[in-house]
Amino acid sequence: GALDAKIKAKGKKYYGNIIDSNTINTAQVTNILNTEFGAVTPENAMKWDATEPNRGQFNFGNADSVANWASSRGKLLRGHTLVWHSQLPGWVSNINDKNTLTQVITNHINTVAGRFKGKVYAWDVVNEILEDNGNFRNSVFYRVLGEDFVDLAFRTARAADPNAKLYLNDYNLDYNGPKINNTVALINRLKARGTPIDGVGTQAHLIVGNLAPFDETLKLLASTGLDVAITELDIRIAKPVDAAKLAQQQMDYATVTTSCLTTPQCVGITIWGVSDRNSWVDGTFPNYDAPLLWDDNFNKKSAYTGTDNAL
Ligand code: XIL
Repeated sequence: GALDAKIKAKGKKYYGNIIDSNTINTAQVTNILNTEFGAVTPENAMKWDATEPNRGQFNFGNADSVANWASSRGKLLRGHTLVWHSQLPGWVSNINDKNTLTQVITNHINTVAGRFKGKVYAWDVVNEILEDNGNFRNSVFYRVLGEDFVDLAFRTARAADPNAKLYLNDYNLDYNGPKINNTVALINRLKARGTPIDGVGTQAHLIVGNLAPFDETLKLLASTGLDVAITELDIRIAKPVDAAKLAQQQMDYATVTTSCLTTPQCVGITIWGVSDRNSWVDGTFPNYDAPLLWDDNFNKKSAYTGTDNAL
């Protein structure tokens, strides 16, 4: 595909996007994925609430569909995500003893990562585990197990799928400050104690006109020595959308793409949606709109041109 072929020609592994049950049968989306992108992440289908809604009862319908879609079209698959405080069923959040939670995490990762063994390029093993102030998020995982839950998750994932690249993934790593500093410090602790971590993912849910240190922070993540991936890129616009903001968005997409190209450890970029019509931004940030490369009618935006020209 076009963006994917161009980024590969620059030595990167993929330009990716998301797919899920809401778009997998929409030809306008899948045609664009087929021609432009070389990797997919399931938007929701591999999350805990989808895969293990009750203890020991696993559902893989939508996750299998995404994995089969990817493998039958030669697309890389990014697994998302094994341990996350959100979209987490209540039966997990209510656990309060170490032995039970250790068993539950182990069984979840063994079963989910095991099912897709050999089919996943990279797993987001842990997602959003730090707060913006740099402290650990007070999730059930941290409350019950402390920092050890991170090591447990990575070690279990490595054993379940030895060839998948294992990532720590988070958001708001795009600005200097305690969150990115403590993320780097945590990665260095994990590496020092031999925990199997291969990559750091920066989600990059960005706001138009507000990306000043993006390149610097990407290089700070690369200073860990790990692979780096931009995993959930979108650049939303404060309403009302106008021509000046769309022009800024074009530049901002170019900035992100160029940052990956100039960071040797950056393996690829995943955009969190194809068309503005299907973006999570509509529901989550009601004062923002139009974060993606194709508009509501699947026409390419200037953001596409900015991306394409940067490659
Ligand atoms: C979002 C999905 O896009 C939505 O469909 C869902 O309702 C909520 O989750 N960080 C992540 C992603 O790691 O999994 C989130 O995806 C967006 C923020």
